[in-house]
Amino acid sequence: MMSQSKSRITAIGTYVPERILTNADLEKMVETSDEWIVQRTGMRERRIAAPHEYVSDLAIKAVEDMVDRYGVTVQDADMILVATSTPEYSFPSTASRVQSKLGIVSTGALDLNAACAGFVYALQMADGLISGGAYRKILVIGAETLSKITDYTDRTTCVLFGDGAGAVLLEKDENSPSVIASVSGTFGEGGIHLYKTALSEQMDGTELKSGCLVQNGREIYKWAIRNIPDGVRTLLSKGDMTADEVDWFVPHSANLRMIEAINERGPFTMDRTLTSVEYRGNTSAASIPLALQLAVDEGQLKAGDHALLYGFGGGMTYAGSIIKWTI
Ligand code: ACO
Repeated sequence: MMSQSKSRITAIGTYVPERILTNADLEKMVETSDEWIVQRTGMRERRIAAPHEYVSDLAIKAVEDMVDRYGVTVQDADMILVATSTPEYSFPSTASRVQSKLGIVSTGALDLNAACAGFVYALQMADGLISGGAYRKILVIGAETLSKITDYTDRTTCVLFGDGAGAVLLEKDENSPSVIASVSGTFGEGGIHLYKTALSEQMDGTELKSGCLVQNGREIYKWAIRNIPDGVRTLLSKGDMTADEVDWFVPHSANLRMIEAINERGPFTMDRTLTSVEYRGNTSAASIPLALQLAVDEGQLKAGDHALLYGFGGGMTYAGSIIKWTI
């Protein structure tokens, strides 16, 4: 299939906070063990934002890292899209804060929330906006401070989540586009399995809690391994590609064991799967760019490679794109 895309990824950068939360630290906080966590999730560490460090701070540092690595200019970006489900304010948007802190003079700024699928959704939106001719240069950011909505007395969730941010720059380029094919979908009935209260009561009708994340991990696990392999196959057929033609599978880094179970049922193997889960935990909208960056740094992901990105999570919602890595 010929791609209709007219945008190219020209740079990537990431940032994670300094503080490390290890499995040994968690053993002192709740009744758990390093053995249980590694066996069930594959996680060893996560990064935790400082008390006054918020999602826009992480996002900006990811953009600065991108500028340092690739020497790109972001001052002439005409749109900033930030995927996050942990904004420091409902409004102003995180994207507005990024605009102001980076001093970008004239740009649109918009947050979007699709939980762990957010980064891939933002990439799809940015590609569409550029390919349609409305914009030329878009900062696409996935950033989260999940530690700020995690209940550290609940062992079923607190071992999973971490903080981080990743940014890519998407620029108009008709000759060497990055996005080959995309899919997305929603299973709203599954929303009850993963949510954070905002202005409403608990989804099961009980008293309003503190605004922490509520999760039924087992149900999400079942949903993911039942649906994602087929979603991946649909995306491959939409892109008119076989799994052999795709170098890397980059699923949302929710849980390494879940990714292994997805691969047992899907077309990819673990040796061609990129994750950020082991030392970053589940960073929701940041997990896919963090995995991409780690793979670039380790010399795995190279210019010309094809990668199938697949985000999924709260909503329940999912979004996948096959991209050609162009940097
Ligand atoms: N340490 C020790 N024991 C624990 C812990 C822990 N941290 N957490 C749960 N347990 C116990 C449970 O209490 C239960 O004990 P019981 O049998 O005495 O009742 C036992 O371990 C098994 O619990 P399960 O919930 O069935 O464990 P499971 O193997 O399903 O693993 C997990 C739980 C890791 C949460 C898994 O279900 C999972 O990863 N699900 C997907 C979660 C996910 O991906 N969420 C995010 C997706 S979207 C997004 O990223 C926002």
